[in-house]
Amino acid sequence: MNPEHETHDTIDSAELKTCCANAYQSDLARVLLGDSFHPGGVKLTEHLGRLLGLSPQQRILDIASGQGMSAITLAQRFGCQVLGIDYGEEAVQKAMQAAEAAGVAHLVSFQQGDAERLPVPECTFDAVICECAFCTFPDKPTAAAEFMRVLKSGGRVGLSDLTRTGRVPDDLQGLLAWIACIADAQPVEEYTRYLTNAGLSIDLVETHDSALVEMVQQIQGKLLGVELLARIKKIELPPAIDFEQAKALAKSASTAIRARQFGYVVITAGKPA
Ligand SMILES: C[S@@+](CC[C@H](N)C(=O)[O-])C[C@H]1O[C@@H](n2cnc3c(N)ncnc32)[C@H](O)[C@@H]1O
Repeated sequence: MNPEHETHDTIDSAELKTCCANAYQSDLARVLLGDSFHPGGVKLTEHLGRLLGLSPQQRILDIASGQGMSAITLAQRFGCQVLGIDYGEEAVQKAMQAAEAAGVAHLVSFQQGDAERLPVPECTFDAVICECAFCTFPDKPTAAAEFMRVLKSGGRVGLSDLTRTGRVPDDLQGLLAWIACIADAQPVEEYTRYLTNAGLSIDLVETHDSALVEMVQQIQGKLLGVELLARIKKIELPPAIDFEQAKALAKSASTAIRARQFGYVVITAGKPA
């Protein structure tokens, strides 16, 4: 697949999910983003945990858990049990190794699965978190309905994601932009609508736009180093990533973010008791 010519309109949803999972389970993701694959990093994850009032004995589901950093952080910080689910098999393997290394494998586990068809029974979790991933799910109403299904009565949702204010610019609409959480970023009120349509009630909406600005600046800086590593074959680029395109995307994204066309939001919601 050549991301220059492909857009999310021309590839099917399974392929989109696979491309996204491949990008985030690669070593490149770790180099560019660090341990945590969302703006605000583990600090924002801890903040989300505090907003949700997490505590020991609770069971938390981290949907689209990436390489596991958020699940591990929540278990360490709040003593809760966390199951992370991600579309990427390799991400799940890496996350399990990370949990072992962090000494929290008794609290944290990971499983391969699709956010739109969660492989867990209904009414089993006290809280669900989904960080910087909802915007990449092709079928958002179904994913939101899954949040609702797996939560116990009175359970909480913590969502953090990229937001847009206007129309997504043409140069930020391709496959790579989709993978980078930009192409299908939603206005805040669309996220809240998906959640309320699923039966959840919104508790809080908080903007964290500066976390996104910082993250993109960091990525732009690291891209220069990655280019060098790729040239001397110290790092393998995932098949869907064209390096020149990635640099152009980071530049366009940075311009759009500085123009406040994109931001980052934390939303919490609850399932009625
Ligand atoms: C930007 S990363 C965020 C990872 C993690 N939540 C974090 O903040 O560090 C997006 C993640 O969503 C996962 N993903 C994308 N579509 C998915 C789906 N349909 N079901 C489960 N995971 C999915 C990808 O594999 C990737 O790990």
